[in-house]
Amino acid sequence: MDSLKGRSLLTWLDYEADEIRFLLDLSRQVKEDRVNGHKKPPQQRFTGKTLALLFEKRSTRTRCAFETAFGEEGGHPVFLSTADIQLGDKESIEDTARVLGRMFSAIQFRGFKQSTVEALAVYSSIPVYNGLTDDFHPTQVLADIMSMEENFGSLKGRKLCFVGDGRNNVARSLMVISAKLGVHFTVITPPELNPDETLLERCLSFSAVSGSELRVTPDTSETAGADAIYTDVWASMGEEDKKAQRTALLHPYQVNKTLMAKTGRPDTIFLHCLPAVKGEEVTAEIIEGPMSRVWDEAENRKHTIKAIMLATLGCL
Ligand code: CP
Ligand code: NVA
Repeated sequence: MDSLKGRSLLTWLDYEADEIRFLLDLSRQVKEDRVNGHKKPPQQRFTGKTLALLFEKRSTRTRCAFETAFGEEGGHPVFLSTADIQLGDKESIEDTARVLGRMFSAIQFRGFKQSTVEALAVYSSIPVYNGLTDDFHPTQVLADIMSMEENFGSLKGRKLCFVGDGRNNVARSLMVISAKLGVHFTVITPPELNPDETLLERCLSFSAVSGSELRVTPDTSETAGADAIYTDVWASMGEEDKKAQRTALLHPYQVNKTLMAKTGRPDTIFLHCLPAVKGEEVTAEIIEGPMSRVWDEAENRKHTIKAIMLATLGCL
């Protein structure tokens, strides 16, 4: 798809539904061709390409997905933590971006400020992928949506409920992608943790086109009829000092057997971006139980990330 060539992925806000649809179909194809131990031998579509992997925060899935997806098809990923390079400290973000843009084919950034990943995209002039900021986690939610579609065979009109910290990066990104794709999305969170109004307004304008229903509520009985229940940690990376306050607010929102039963459906699935704190936002019984699809989601991080890079780097 020509419109994806050379594009960055910072939020999904600037992506059209048909572009996201294309990436989902490509992810499914990538998964069918997967190289880990079976199916086809790896193609070499990233040969001669280089990828800078910038990390201010820790990662297991995102780093490994980018590094293995790119490397197994002949690309050269370079991991750079803030212990390795100047990033807004001795050298400005803008100057770092300009230098990386002269040496690499693409950049992945995981860190704190959304403004950093936005500046990298502007000043590097190469595709930049947001591997998580305080505000958004776009590559994650493509894998989540793919996992839902794999399970149910369709997306439009399905009901996804996020239960927990409604203002966090994952909840916000799910709201955007759901609104674009026509997935009904309910954020179930205490009012103190509501997603911000400006983003909600923007998403409502997308949902008016896609037919998605967006709701924000403190009421856990709004999970009735849900196809999928999603949760995430109560205190995200960088918010460790808010842990006690969040626990007090969010313990009634723990995803456990009682909460799952409120869907009234035997086939509701449980999703989580991981890493999970078992016994806090979700009980071990649910995450380890038959409703859980969390390992599919983790695997799908790699397939979706490969698809994003193939399309935006023009390697198809
Ligand atoms: N879900 C996710 O982003 O995991 P990591 O923090 O391990 O990358
Ligand atoms: N909201 C979590 C997601 C981790 C993948 C965090 O930012 O820490």
